[in-house]
Amino acid sequence: MRVVPTASALRFVGAPTWEALSGHPVSDSVWSDVPAVPHVSLGRWADIVVVAPASANLLARAAAGMSDDLLTASLLTTTGPVLMAPAMHTEMWEHPATRANVATLRSRGVQVVEPAVGRLTGADSGAGRLPEPEDLARLVEEALEPPARDLAGRHLVVSVGGTREDLDPVRFLGNRSSGRQGFAIVERALARGAEVTAVVGTVEVAVPAGARVLAATTASDMREALLAEQGSADAVIMAAAVADFRPDATSATKIKKSDDHEPEPIRLVRNPDILVELVSRRPEGQVVVGFAAETASSDEELLALARAKAARKGCDLLVVNDVGGGRVFGRDDTTVRVLAAGGEVLAEASGGKSGAADAVLDEVAKLLPPLTRSHG
Ligand code: CTP
Repeated sequence: MRVVPTASALRFVGAPTWEALSGHPVSDSVWSDVPAVPHVSLGRWADIVVVAPASANLLARAAAGMSDDLLTASLLTTTGPVLMAPAMHTEMWEHPATRANVATLRSRGVQVVEPAVGRLTGADSGAGRLPEPEDLARLVEEALEPPARDLAGRHLVVSVGGTREDLDPVRFLGNRSSGRQGFAIVERALARGAEVTAVVGTVEVAVPAGARVLAATTASDMREALLAEQGSADAVIMAAAVADFRPDATSATKIKKSDDHEPEPIRLVRNPDILVELVSRRPEGQVVVGFAAETASSDEELLALARAKAARKGCDLLVVNDVGGGRVFGRDDTTVRVLAAGGEVLAEASGGKSGAADAVLDEVAKLLPPLTRSHG
C-alpha cells in the first residue's frame, strides 16, 4: 500500500506518520524522487486508488482532470478502479458545483460513495461524514473482486424511512427514522443483482441510484404501495418506522390558536399493522422481513422482547436492533441480530449499516426458493 496525501491532508496527519504506517516514503509532490517518475509509476502500479476522505476541492480537481500534485496526477495515470469517499460539510456536498463534479466522475466510471450522515467537523451534523472504515474496506474489496450477484432475478420490495401523519395543512406527527438502514439494504440488494422497489417515507439521506422509488408519506400510503407491490415481490423487507397511531381527524384548514380556550387535545387512532397484513397475504415462497428497534437492560431481555415480537408479527425473519445501553438513533454504526420465525438467532452483525444489510440479505437469500424460469 502506498499513501499519497494532498498538501491539505498533511496538515492533519504528517508525512512521518504515513511513512511509518505504510513503510514507504510519502510525498504530495510530483517533484520528489523524480528519477522514479512517481506521477506516472504510482498510478500504473496501483490495483485500486482509494481517495478517502475526498474533499470538495479534490473532487473538483479530479473532475477537471487537473494534475497539480501527486494524487491528481496518479488519478490520471491509473487504469484500475478508483473509489472516492467524499467527506465535507452538507452545504458543500449539496452544492450544484459538487453535484456536477460527482456526476462527471461517476460518468467516467469512478465509484463515488454516498457520504454517511452524522457528526461533521465542529458541532455540525448532517450528510457529509466519511463512512465507517469497515464499510470502506468492504467497498474496496468489492471493487477488486465484485460480489456474487446472488440476488439476480429477484424482486425485493423495501420500505424505508419514517411516516408522517397530518394534523392540518402545516403540522404533522412524525418520527426520527433517517432511512439509512433501509437504504443500506436497497444499496446492497442492488449490488447483489436484485431489482429493488423502495417504498420511501420521510428520509434524511439521498435515495441510492438504481432502485425504483415509490414515495409514501403516511402509514396508509405506505400500506397501499406495499400491498400493490407485494404480488411481484420475492421478498418484502419492512425497514420503515411506521407510525402506530395517527390523528383521528385531519383539519382541512390550519388549526388556529385562540385566547378564549385551551387547544383541543389530539385524539389518536391505531394505524393498521402493515407487516402483519403482508404476512397474512404472502404468496407461497415469499420472504417477509420485519424490523424491531428495542431497548433492554440485558441481552436476555432484548432477545425475549424480540422473540415475542417475531411471534406476534409472524414474519419469516425479524431484524433486531439494539438501541438501548446509551446507543442512539442516527448513528453510523449499529448492532443487529437476525432472528428466525421461531426466535433462533441466525446471524449477528456489528459495525456499519451496510454490513448489517448484507447479514439480513444473506438470510433472505437462504430462504428464497430456487429461481424458476418464469422469473426470467
Ligand atoms: N410495522 C408495520 N406497521 C405498523 C407498525 C409497524 O408494518 N403500523 C412494522 C415495522 O415496519 C417493523 C415492525 O412492524 O418492521 C416492527 O415495528 P415496531 O414499531 O417495533 O412494532 P410494534 O408492533 O409497533 O411494537 P412496539 O409495541 O414495540 O412498538
